[in-house]
Amino acid sequence: MARGRFISFEGIDGAGKSTQHAWVVDRLRQSGHTVVATREPGGTPLGEKLRALLLAESMHLETEALLMFAARREHVAQVIQPALARGEWVVCDRFVDASFAYQGGGRGLDWKKLEDLTKWVLGDLQPDLTLIFDAPVEIAQKRLQAGTPNPDRFEQEHAAFFERVRAAYLRIARENPARVRVVDATRAPAEINKELEIIIATI
Ligand code: TYD
Repeated sequence: MARGRFISFEGIDGAGKSTQHAWVVDRLRQSGHTVVATREPGGTPLGEKLRALLLAESMHLETEALLMFAARREHVAQVIQPALARGEWVVCDRFVDASFAYQGGGRGLDWKKLEDLTKWVLGDLQPDLTLIFDAPVEIAQKRLQAGTPNPDRFEQEHAAFFERVRAAYLRIARENPARVRVVDATRAPAEINKELEIIIATI
């Protein structure tokens, strides 16, 4: 059986990535694909417990990175690899690039340590396509303030943190042109949908 396709969604908080994630999942199901819609941190019962800790508790930046990768290890083993082996599509709201962007770019953790963890936890596994929803920090923060009554530990970060996260995402896009597409998230949702329709038809 053909291996399924794996798509990840990325972007700074407030870029509108989760809305587009839901839209793409529906669109793929309408076209007859079996789709596993999932997210990180999380995606498994244990991963969701780790997510609750990660979003609420202060911790050392390396603890944060290690817990992100611990949740990811479980997610890859329990959900992502089995679904791909069954020929299903996996559409994941954030994946490993978020660790490089947030723990690497945002918090300043050594990129090499993140590369080592990636090799350990993912081996050869990479998404077939990664969509980075990109918007200026000011716009994303306004959207976040309007739509998030109880911001979590990451959403409470200051603008300079998100500038570094955004810059790291754009670096990842430059370094991985075959896998990563940057989507201009400042446009109206209907405009973005049109572009996504074309992109997903090509993978
Ligand atoms: P997010 O997708 O923003 O959840 P929600 O849309 O429900 O708010 O993910 C939660 C946060 O986790 C987000 O602020 C980014 C952070 N994160 C990391 O810092 N590193 C990672 O590896 C992952 C997967 C997420």
